[in-house]
Amino acid sequence: MKKVVLAYSGGLDTSCIIPWLKDRGYEIIAVIGDVGQGDNFDEVKAKAIKSGACKVYCLDLQKELIEDYAFLALKAGALYEGKYNLACALSRPLIAYHQVLIARKEKANGLVHGCTGKGNDQVRFEVTYRLMEPDMEVLAPVRVWEFKSRDEEIDYAKSKGVPVSASKKKPYSIDTNVYGRAMESGVLEDPMAEPPEDIFYMTTAPEKAPAKPGYLEIGFEKGVPVSVDGVRMKPLQLVLKLNAIAGSHGVGRVDMIENRLVGIKSRELYENPAGTVLHLGIREIESLVLDRDSLRFKEALSQKYAELTYNGLWMTPLKAQMDAFFNKYHENTTGVVRIKLFKGHAMVVGRKSPHSRYSEKMATYGKGDKFDQSLADGFIKLWTVPFQRHQ
Ligand code: ARG
Repeated sequence: MKKVVLAYSGGLDTSCIIPWLKDRGYEIIAVIGDVGQGDNFDEVKAKAIKSGACKVYCLDLQKELIEDYAFLALKAGALYEGKYNLACALSRPLIAYHQVLIARKEKANGLVHGCTGKGNDQVRFEVTYRLMEPDMEVLAPVRVWEFKSRDEEIDYAKSKGVPVSASKKKPYSIDTNVYGRAMESGVLEDPMAEPPEDIFYMTTAPEKAPAKPGYLEIGFEKGVPVSVDGVRMKPLQLVLKLNAIAGSHGVGRVDMIENRLVGIKSRELYENPAGTVLHLGIREIESLVLDRDSLRFKEALSQKYAELTYNGLWMTPLKAQMDAFFNKYHENTTGVVRIKLFKGHAMVVGRKSPHSRYSEKMATYGKGDKFDQSLADGFIKLWTVPFQRHQ
């Protein structure tokens, strides 16, 4: 019998995979990655066993997701196509990594995921598998099995004694972790349709958010968020806190058409309250402490970093090289940013840093001006030289 390790969520697809593979002569070990999706993991574990798994692991990966994935992407300023904080994309190499570790420990000879052939996640899982264990068999049953619809899967699940909680009509496809939530399909497939309010969980509707603005002070040290309103917190705790505060003001909703790696355009809705204020905050400290060239140069790298992450290339050399760059880049990204939250909006209203390059004496139009305006005349003459015709 071939032993395989499955990345298991407890959803309909990964639950059907278990009997489907068993019938084809496989023994299945299920691995559940707790990335903060908020499921009842005792139930999920029991479901894996009821579906036919021989063993089940449930790993708490939340801390690692924030510290070793999300905060690196934050330092890199990585927002895919300028909008998406990559919450789902970051969780995939993490789950795949642990899945491979378990496969090694269990001396398994195959790795299985439940992604479809149309999305990005299959790539993120399989690139990680191949980089870590190039010779292990990779199985993606959803891409090849006979079921043509959700209904057929439900009928199959019932025939195999797999507990079915899913209703035949599933309004949306949702992926959740502590760093954000993604919603697609159903009525959202019409790009002109406004998303119904019931898809949101992490954010209050802006129109129902408090009528009085809220304020938030986020402290950063070398590009890492370390405090909220003066209280030091561990990364995961800090993200949970910011999700609650920013989310209660309706901050962190994104509605976008994005370009998947396989070429399809898809309409996605995201909620990421913490990610939104963190990206806003870190950029603000950067603008205070870094010189113009560094800031401009970084922009191109941020885009590249977001693309690598989105496209499943988290474990590649260039991504690691860019992390080294960003560690140097953030040497002085220490300080506090003050953010005002009001009905779906987050606005920076103040920033300070011991490494600030801002000089009031240079900037002022009032008394105490240190800038020698008489130098401007010569500067502008030289600035123009390359564009003039000279005899
Ligand atoms: N489009 C996003 C990505 O590829 C999120 C996909 C998450 N899945 C979902 N069911 N909405 O990272």
